[in-house]
Amino acid sequence: MSVIEMIHKLLPWNQELETGIQVVDEQHLEFFKRLNTFILRVKGGQISGAKAAADQMDYLSYYIMMHFNTEEGYMVQCNDVKYREHQAEHKHLIFEVKALSARLKAGVSEEVVEDLFALLSQWVHQHILTWDVEFAARYRAWEMEHQPT
Ligand SMILES: [Fe+2]
Repeated sequence: MSVIEMIHKLLPWNQELETGIQVVDEQHLEFFKRLNTFILRVKGGQISGAKAAADQMDYLSYYIMMHFNTEEGYMVQCNDVKYREHQAEHKHLIFEVKALSARLKAGVSEEVVEDLFALLSQWVHQHILTWDVEFAARYRAWEMEHQPT
């Protein structure tokens, strides 16, 4: 199965999720790819030990944190009105991801993997479709006004 087919099968990507900020969109897609790869490996039995799962989860968490920093950098740049609230949403998600990592470190079970997938897929859709798409529209408007002439 190709990566694209995999993404569509597990966590579907669609155009509604595009923010119009190229770097942010590329990172979102990369995140989908990493998350789906992780879930497939766990389901396929390639990652069965708690240590291996925790390592993969750390890899995913690291990417999430890096991505949030990128987004927040854009928000600071355009002095976004919802910067603080959006940042609080990011912190909340990191907290939840860390809690799941701790559960994974204690042992891999179908239940933890399902919870992980539910949390992240729900976040991806709710967060990207609301917070990210809205902030990106404000950023793009700001960028138009500040383009060098
Ligand atoms: Fe965000």
